[in-house]
Formats: sequence, structure tokens, C-alpha cells
Amino acid sequence: MNAIELKAVSKTYDRVPAVDSVSTSIQRGERVVILGPSGCGKTTLLRLVAGLEVPDSGTLSIDGQPVAAGGHNLVEPEQRHIGMVFQDLALWPHMTVSQHLEFALRYDLRTKSADRPARIREVLEMVRMGNRALARPGELSGGQQQRVALARALVANPAILLMDEPLSSLDSDLNLHLRQELLTLYAALGFTLVYVTHNREEAEAIGTRVIAMRDGRTGDSAMTRAKPGNRQS
Ligand SMILES: Nc1ncnc2c1ncn2[C@@H]1O[C@H](COP(=O)(O)OP(=O)(O)OP(=O)(O)O)[C@@H](O)[C@H]1O
Ligand SMILES: [Mg+2]
Repeated sequence: MNAIELKAVSKTYDRVPAVDSVSTSIQRGERVVILGPSGCGKTTLLRLVAGLEVPDSGTLSIDGQPVAAGGHNLVEPEQRHIGMVFQDLALWPHMTVSQHLEFALRYDLRTKSADRPARIREVLEMVRMGNRALARPGELSGGQQQRVALARALVANPAILLMDEPLSSLDSDLNLHLRQELLTLYAALGFTLVYVTHNREEAEAIGTRVIAMRDGRTGDSAMTRAKPGNRQS
């Protein structure tokens, strides 16, 4: 079953095609990396999948259900069961760590209000931030902020996790360490991972499949390769 399927999806800003007739599919439980240079459309592609942008044309389906078609979004972002770690993390300076997670749960009808505090504690433990629930982003290191963004993306138990260059601003030791933590969480939770980077070495370490992107187009076959341990359903 495809977790994500794009058929000729395009998005143009001011006559610049950011995503240019992309067709690709990602299976449930797959770990896919989108690799390409700055400006090639990686962030736009993730935002389309998340429902934060509307495609001009093409069809986008999640779990076999069309969520965008004919130039309209058919399913709201909150209903797509997608978690996203944004390129700039997008943490709010005035909110504590646990308030970020509460905010992310506000539309999650699957987690009852009474269960939310326990769920927030559980996810913060998972990313080893359980003792920083009351801190604000300004009081945290870069790696800790990255973990908060990850916890916020995971708290509503998404089926799909989108990560937009989450580790590129970190030094190489921390980058390697958090890569490993991400793969451990992936193995434990079994979401479908779509990870964006412009770093080929990082792409090959994280993905079981790499989709190359350039000038708004994807070259799925160019770098597709299988690795042992790829979990496909
Ligand atoms: N909101 C917007 N308004 C106008 N143009 C945009 C907008 N967002 C993206 N673009 C343009 O679309 C193209 C793709 O941008 P995008 O942010 O998707 O690239 P990217 O691959 O994520 O780059 P980077 O690696 O630098 O993050 C660029 O030409 C960019 O200038
Ligand atoms: Mg980007």
C-alpha cells in the first residue's frame, strides 16, 4: 500500500515552477530521502504533502485516498495524520516545551484531553527531553531544540513523518548522534519517513531509497537502490 502517491503534481510561484509535474510513490513504512540542491523544490514538495500548500494541478493521495486534486486540497492538514519537522524548526519563543506539544495535539481527536498530559510526558521521554518540559526554546541547545521539534511532530502519532533538513545546522558529532536516534525511533514506531537533505552522505545513511530532485523534478530511478533492513509492507 502506498502511504503517499503523487501523480503529475505541480506548484508554481510567480511563474517559477517550484514543483514541476512530480510523479512518485512512497510505500507504507518506507524510509525515503529527497536529495537535491538549494531551491530545487524540496520544501515545497513536503508542504504539498502536508497540505500546507495547494497544488496547481495533479493528484496527491495518502493511503490511497486523494487529498488534493484539480487544484484544490480535499483533506485538511490535521486530517492527514502527518507530522512535520520544519527546516527552521518553527518553535515559538514564548511557549514551553510541553506547550508546544499541547498545541500540536489540539486537533488530534484520537488522543482524549484526559490522556494528553501522559502522552506528552511519554513522547518527551522518548526524545530524552523529559526533564526539560518547562523550558522555553531560548534556554535549549540546538540539538535539544531539534528534539522538541521532533517530539511535536510525533506527539499525535502520525502515520507519516516529514523532516525538512532537520540536522543540517548541527555539528557533525551531534548530526551523527541524532541520525542514530531517529533510526531507533523509526524502528520502534514504524512510521513512513520522508527526509529532505542536500547532503548525499546523510541521504545514504538515513534512506533505504533516495529520490533525487532537481529544478522541481524528481529522478526516482536515478539513485533508487535497496538496502538490507528496508521495511516495506
Ligand atoms: N512562498 C513562496 N513564494 C515564492 N516563491 C517561493 C515560495 N516558496 C518557494 N519558492 C520558490 O520555489 C523554489 C523552490 O523552493 P523550496 O523552498 O521548495 O526549495 P528547497 O529545495 O527547499 O531549497 P533549500 O534547500 O534552500 O531549502 C525556489 O525557486 C523558491 O524561490
Ligand atoms: Mg528547503
